[in-house]
Amino acid sequence: MTDSTAGFSTRAIHAGQPFEESTGAVIPPLHLSTTYHPYSIGELRGGYDYSRGTNPTRDSLQQQLAALEGGRFGISYASGLGAEDAVLRGLLKPGDHVVMGNDVYGGTFRLISRIHGAVGIGHTPVDLTDVDAVRAAVAETGAKLLWIETPSNPMMRIADVEALVAVAHEAGAYALVDNTFASPYLQQPLALGADLVVHSTTKYLGGHSDVVGGAVITNSEEIDSAVRFIQFAAGNQSSPFDAYLTTRGAKTLAVRMDRHCDNAEAVASWLLGRSEVSHVLYPGLDDHPGHDVAARQMRRFGGMVSVRLKGGEAAARKVAESTRVFTLAESLGGVESLMNYPSEMTHASVKGTELAVPEDLLRLSVGLEDAEDLLSDLERAFEGL
Ligand SMILES: Cc1ncc(COP(=O)(O)O)c(C=O)c1O
Repeated sequence: MTDSTAGFSTRAIHAGQPFEESTGAVIPPLHLSTTYHPYSIGELRGGYDYSRGTNPTRDSLQQQLAALEGGRFGISYASGLGAEDAVLRGLLKPGDHVVMGNDVYGGTFRLISRIHGAVGIGHTPVDLTDVDAVRAAVAETGAKLLWIETPSNPMMRIADVEALVAVAHEAGAYALVDNTFASPYLQQPLALGADLVVHSTTKYLGGHSDVVGGAVITNSEEIDSAVRFIQFAAGNQSSPFDAYLTTRGAKTLAVRMDRHCDNAEAVASWLLGRSEVSHVLYPGLDDHPGHDVAARQMRRFGGMVSVRLKGGEAAARKVAESTRVFTLAESLGGVESLMNYPSEMTHASVKGTELAVPEDLLRLSVGLEDAEDLLSDLERAFEGL
């Protein structure tokens, strides 16, 4: 039972993953073969000829991801940025323009501004929480693509997906949502009208910090064929082993996300009670400016919490380097809790630009450990601030 009426976890566990007919293996095997023997010239056995184009293990992942986002088509790539690059190459041509959040993920900004900027794609960063400003930017620039990231990394701003999709569509632009931070369990952008969703599957979908990957999901045949062609023609697809690991991780997404949310809520409310903290950036808090929109478009508020410290850069560095359960590292969305100092780590590429993140800010990827161990770890790291 893996049709679209099946529940989220049923789809996660079964979509694209039938048992194997020839042996009865319940878990579809990992297909490493690069090439496939046809019945005769031009008459393929299972639709496969060469693995850069199609591969059964990658197909399993692509079907699983499409089912989780409620989309018809899923395409998987070697990384999140590889997926984003395929979208930009597949949908845009020189002279086209992208409007994106002024706190878009730094790697996305670098990709659009430096790699695609160099071949004539324009970009305008704007505050996505200000729908009128977005409408004006899209109209002024004649944008072909509105790039929405919500919650944003690492400022945790919430963009109103339905309102922004309407702005894009009024202007004849595509509306894309980077759904990495929420995961399809918490937020379903296609159901909110978005034309396509991108993911860094490296994060919650893979979920175990052991595989880099990316994906594009859409209901549009036109978008699918343009973006899938880049996967085949440019060769930036996920490898079979990476696809296998990602599928395995994504099966438990729902149970992991609920625990991530429970623990993040505990961490956010602990931080809120600390005198050393100036701001807790978590959309689950009633006074977060995006709380009402998040409550409308998300199932829960996610596992990411950012915090700003009154003691500035020195305090942030001290906390980042003193935790024992939270590991100081880039990335997010794995079972283990990670602590990141964005201005020198994940967002170093936007330092000194208008997208620079504050130096007193820490980003916490709250994992699945016992909440009391996470809180006592933070308690210890805050000592002497
Ligand atoms: C929101 C967001 N989008 C895209 C990416 C890029 O993904 P990857 O690192 O898999 O290329 C990241 C990576 O941190 C991210 O946080």
